[in-house]
Amino acid sequence: MADASKTGQDLILADKKYLFPAVFHYFSQPLVLDHAKDQFCYDADGNAYLDFFGGIVTVSVGHANPKVNAAVQAQLEKLTHVSTCFVTEPQVRLAEKLAAISPGGKLSKAYFTNSGTEANETAILTARLHTGASEIIALRHSYHGRSALAMALTAHANWKLGPALMPGIVHAHNAYCYRCPFGATYPDCGVRCAQDLEELIHTSTSGRIAGMIAEPIQGVGGFITPPREYFKIAAGIVRKYGGLFIADEVQTAWGRLGGNWFGIEKWGVEPDIITSAKGLGNGMPIGVTMAKPEIADSLKGLTISTFGGNPVTTTAAKAVLDFIEAENLRQNCTQVGEYLGVKLEELKEKFPLIGDVRGMGLLRAIELVRDRKSKEPAAAETNQLLEKCRDQRLLIGKGGLYGNVVRISPPMNIGKGDVDEFAARMSQALEKL
Ligand SMILES: Cc1ncc(COP(=O)(O)O)c(C=O)c1O
Repeated sequence: MADASKTGQDLILADKKYLFPAVFHYFSQPLVLDHAKDQFCYDADGNAYLDFFGGIVTVSVGHANPKVNAAVQAQLEKLTHVSTCFVTEPQVRLAEKLAAISPGGKLSKAYFTNSGTEANETAILTARLHTGASEIIALRHSYHGRSALAMALTAHANWKLGPALMPGIVHAHNAYCYRCPFGATYPDCGVRCAQDLEELIHTSTSGRIAGMIAEPIQGVGGFITPPREYFKIAAGIVRKYGGLFIADEVQTAWGRLGGNWFGIEKWGVEPDIITSAKGLGNGMPIGVTMAKPEIADSLKGLTISTFGGNPVTTTAAKAVLDFIEAENLRQNCTQVGEYLGVKLEELKEKFPLIGDVRGMGLLRAIELVRDRKSKEPAAAETNQLLEKCRDQRLLIGKGGLYGNVVRISPPMNIGKGDVDEFAARMSQALEKL
């Protein structure tokens, strides 16, 4: 048998040699993963890691989900690719399903691509064509992808490589209550960050906007969760100036926030366009832009995504949605998510390093600070905590503008026992810091 750790070393060296260095990895000594099942990832030595990040909020229904994999395997044998020049059943059936579950059943047309970045490209293009306006509002601390346009929409300097400048995009203050950009406190603030959008439109745009794009909970930004009034006020202002409201649900869709299929529904808002990717395919590359029909119809002319709507990825996505439905995973996210929230609050009681606990359902975060009063970001400690969690065989994510937020997003079909295990390992890791 091959020496697993030697093979691992070879892989790390080859990775360094043959991949762009921008393909970054966690840990000072990268972790080589070999296979995965359910809520566990395994290295080549067979060590099991409890996966509470899900490949960046992507493994929605567990690694190697047997129902999804069986559907994918059957489809691989039947029809792998013909392009969207032809009608195929998996694409149509998925679009039909998405129309049925979209907020109010109103976002009934879909455009499939391969990633969240492309889903956002499609959304912005469609909004511009529909409104005849070009200016877009995005939020500070947002992440919308890695194309030139998506990097320009992004307001998180680390992820804006090169000259990611593009005219027609302005960035509003986000609803970061823990570090309020206005130094105010909710609810006395009157949700000033949302009201400020009007001032932004008056001062920094022509007054006619194509729309606003926002993540219901800012993912890469560190699971920043706006107060419940925020999006109603924001969408109202955007529509007053002729714009569309686009919800970037790459991280928040498919029931992860608990109860609703889409995160934005938690704020009682019906968006004009929704984009998503990640958890829809459980690891298969798929992106989708969903829009109200009259808006979708504005994307006229020729456009193609060779792999978009591919029979295999759309089959996977439909199987994911069916599994979420059959197993009541949206309700599971509510129940297990609340339990996770309680456990994180308990950890906060015990460890002063934890300054804030936030999130919804199974999308939760802890923000680490050196001092609770000054809120100085504990970035180095966050890196150390990731290493300590690795020692405990626990995988978690990192985020936030200052790199001091731990992101927790396990598969949606975990149970309370998994949360107990997570909390025990996280406590051990914090203890060892
Ligand atoms: C909110 C959000 N939008 C867009 C994207 C880009 O998606 P992708 O990496 O699939 O292009 C991401 C990726 O992390 C994301 O979190």
